[in-house]
Amino acid sequence: MRDSEGAWRAALYGPDGFFTRGSVPADHFRTAPLIGSELAEALLVLLDRVDFALGRPARVDFVDVGAGGGELSAAVRGLASGSLGRRLRVTAVDVGPVRDLPGVAWERSLPGSVVGLLVGHEWLDAIPCPVVEWPCDDPWLARWWPLRPGWRAEIGAPRDAAWADAVSRVRGAALAIDYGHVRADRAAGRYPSGTFAAYRGGRQVEPAFDGSCDLTAHVALDACGAAAGGDRVLVSQRDALAALGLTAVAGGSGMAWLESLARSGRVAELRDPAGLGAFGWLLHGVGVPVGDLLPPLPPWRP
Ligand SMILES: C[S@@+](CC[C@H](N)C(=O)[O-])C[C@H]1O[C@@H](n2cnc3c(N)ncnc32)[C@H](O)[C@@H]1O
Repeated sequence: MRDSEGAWRAALYGPDGFFTRGSVPADHFRTAPLIGSELAEALLVLLDRVDFALGRPARVDFVDVGAGGGELSAAVRGLASGSLGRRLRVTAVDVGPVRDLPGVAWERSLPGSVVGLLVGHEWLDAIPCPVVEWPCDDPWLARWWPLRPGWRAEIGAPRDAAWADAVSRVRGAALAIDYGHVRADRAAGRYPSGTFAAYRGGRQVEPAFDGSCDLTAHVALDACGAAAGGDRVLVSQRDALAALGLTAVAGGSGMAWLESLARSGRVAELRDPAGLGAFGWLLHGVGVPVGDLLPPLPPWRP
């Protein structure tokens, strides 16, 4: 089963891989940046807090790792204004085909250093890892996902390493947003078959390792946080968005009312506790106290 990681990697990132050939979420599933610009709005509030805490440097970065079609980068670039907008450098990082987006630099690997905010939005779930079953003797499993007879699991070590590497490049803040799980639920047997799954055209399908579908698994965000270390919080998207001022309220009259109604629908989708609102936000403050970026919030329990 160890070779599952290699097969998974080839299926997504090999010469004919799903992402290598240029598949983006918009073709197959709906991620938060595709809903509208509201996530970018909230991330700009967060970036402004990071910028303030850093003393408003001459250049401030927004780095979107695993950018896919670049929708989040484009929205951040489009909404940023004033002093922050003038000092902002937006970089989209993806191993898939380069996209031409105004005001967005496109890179195939992470920058050496980031001063500002690095975001991995549904990036870590796309990093292949070994899919295993009991009995499997592995230190990551022993610490993070102790198995019982009949259980399957994914060994999250490659995600931990990728996240620790990304955070090590940052001064300011690093934020992973993803669906995932925490140790208490894994150990209690909430995922006896693991979470490895395949999607094509918006539907869950039988996994095929031929590049025809997205292969993914939930992220052990608590393990990623521990691997990167430092000052951090792990909270729900629902709570984090409210703490950044994004709540759904419709008001006004006529066209303004219609627009506010549409916007409140988009915000409600982002904060839905049975959907995207249940995503985890793993936020690290690096050289900046994380308490300066978000108020105290309940710990994430998806
Ligand atoms: C599930 S998609 C998410 C896209 C986008 N962030 C969104 O939420 O709509 C994951 C993306 O991560 C990219 N990716 C995976 N590993 C990567 C790496 N090591 N460096 C850069 N991009 C990577 C894939 O090519 C893919 O486009």
